[in-house]
Amino acid sequence: MERVRKAVIPAAGMGTRFLPATKAIPKEMLPIVDKPTIQYVVEEAVQSGFEDIIFVTGQGKNEIEDHFDYDYRLEHRLKEQGKEDLLRIVRNISEMIAVSSIRQKKPLGLGHAVQITEAFTGDEPFGVFLGDDIVVHKVPCMKQLLTVYDRYQASVVAVEEVPWESVSRFGLVAVEPVESKDPRLLRIRDMVEKPPREEAPSNLAIIGRYILMPGVFQALKKTTPGAGGEIQLTDGLRGLMELEPVYAYRFEGTRYDVGNKLEYLIATVEFALRREDLQEEFRDYLRSLKL
Ligand code: G1P
Repeated sequence: MERVRKAVIPAAGMGTRFLPATKAIPKEMLPIVDKPTIQYVVEEAVQSGFEDIIFVTGQGKNEIEDHFDYDYRLEHRLKEQGKEDLLRIVRNISEMIAVSSIRQKKPLGLGHAVQITEAFTGDEPFGVFLGDDIVVHKVPCMKQLLTVYDRYQASVVAVEEVPWESVSRFGLVAVEPVESKDPRLLRIRDMVEKPPREEAPSNLAIIGRYILMPGVFQALKKTTPGAGGEIQLTDGLRGLMELEPVYAYRFEGTRYDVGNKLEYLIATVEFALRREDLQEEFRDYLRSLKL
């Protein structure tokens, strides 16, 4: 059985929802407490056993790669100042995992972003992590998908029920049960990207974690522009589904869409409340608010 070792992290989006903060820095570098959002995602990849990451970037995204690279000047300074704790934190980030990047020169969509990583992933199954989604659970969301992959050696996407009012923001799946001990596992019969509410096959939405079989590249080559005039990964997966099974897994955990301002704020508060060094004082402060 082929192991899933390589991760694709699309990060080419302009981040217009967070302007002006994202005018000169990538949205993936916006911090939650004191870590950039992308670091939470990379840590999930590391905890799930991935060995190699490729970021699909665009203009103005160099900071992402820099963040996971060594910064000798900073390390030297921290050493001189005897700040061993910070030195360890900074160095650990550089040693976390091998990273590289490829540029998506035109905003042609998520499907296209994945398509251009074919030379990196080759004919291996691979993981895709969307940086706007952060999932918190003792078993990382991607690791939950890997358990499905280990059993079926097939593509699997993370899904979650979302309110009907918001279905048009997601890829939605129509599913059928699978004979399995795990009731969270489903087989996908159809999928649609960002349909109007009346055309949604369900309110079971694709969340940004995928394990994909290499056959997806053939399917993506045949995929024509869909929602928003872009090559959609969901449409590519629908093509793949006609050739081989594609599974959906209702993951366990709490998902934060940190690409959305309100959920970003909620994530910031909840992550701060989980931090031992901050929780006490922060909780006192929140309690003191006369709302
Ligand atoms: C992407 C996918 C969509 C998925 C969503 C999850 O959309 O195209 O299928 O439901 O991520 O966050 P985006 O949010 O990038 O527009």
